Amino acid sequence: MKGTIPTGGLLLLLLLLSPDPRATLLMPPSTACCTQLYRGPLPNELLKKVLHIALQEADRDCYLQAFVLHLAHRSICVHPQNRSLARWLEHQGRKR
Ligand SMILES: *[C@@H]1O[C@H](CO)[C@@H](O)[C@H](O)[C@H]1NC(C)=O
Repeated sequence: MKGTIPTGGLLLLLLLLSPDPRATLLMPPSTACCTQLYRGPLPNELLKKVLHIALQEADRDCYLQAFVLHLAHRSICVHPQNRSLARWLEHQGRKR
């Protein structure tokens, strides 16, 4: 059993080793829809990393309404009525 790489590690390695621009073209983040909502807590450390927020409408290509929090390397879809997010947004609005 020596010399085997766990599948997860191999996948990660492949991801790191393929800076293929076509890979990103295949899945442009702008057209990606939230298909499910994140349910975990939204700690301030996470919210601080948000680059921008978009509201995904349920009418066009996506069937789910959600706030999409765009972080540097991923996006998180949150229920549009999430209280902690609403409070945070309000706070942001007051700051600027
Ligand atoms: C939504 O808000 C509640 C607090 O009102 C929080 O406990 C929950 O984790 C939040 N998160 C998401 C992503 O829905």
